[in-house]
Amino acid sequence: MKNITLLDKEFRPLIDAKTIDQVISKMATDMNKDLDGEAPLFLSILNGSFMFTSDLIKQITISGTQISFIKVASYSGTSSTGEVKELIGLKEDIQGRTIVILEDIIDSGRSMTHLLEYLRNKNPRKIVVATLFYKPKAAVFKVPIDYVGIPLENDFIVGRGLDYEGLGRNLPDLYILNS
Ligand code: IMP
Ligand code: MG
Repeated sequence: MKNITLLDKEFRPLIDAKTIDQVISKMATDMNKDLDGEAPLFLSILNGSFMFTSDLIKQITISGTQISFIKVASYSGTSSTGEVKELIGLKEDIQGRTIVILEDIIDSGRSMTHLLEYLRNKNPRKIVVATLFYKPKAAVFKVPIDYVGIPLENDFIVGRGLDYEGLGRNLPDLYILNS
């Protein structure tokens, strides 16, 4: 794997695609066991989670599984703007249902806190949080996380759905900002 350049920044390889695939398979296996019989509604948080969602959901075998998409954006450039810009919602009635939130990464926890508050008001039976990547040292808002794929240091990463200024989402491997 080689370094890549996106706009003005250089990134180096951090985690290869195969390793990430294996982690996602493990998450799917765990969910299939834990959520059996719950007819879960998976909520994929756009844009970053589209690839994680696709990879994971193909391996979910739970009867009654559904998928919907929601958008919460709080990020611009390489640092959190500290402001939730958008929330494009949810058509489904989630009352009494098991909701599984699929997030690409939890950084400060701001987006997830906002989303959880929004969803709890709609009285689901249970909300399960799954994130592919997690930066524990960046946590400002404490969020309950049920499934963590790969914990990371407090660095800026791209690939596997994650972007820098809209670039790099298509990369199957994960890259870290060279600084
Ligand atoms: P939070 O609200 O600070 O937890 O930020 C969560 C959102 O910020 C994620 O869903 C990503 O879209 C974005 N984000 C956080 N860290 C990174 C990163 O290292 N690279 C790219 N996007 C990130
Ligand atoms: Mg995101």
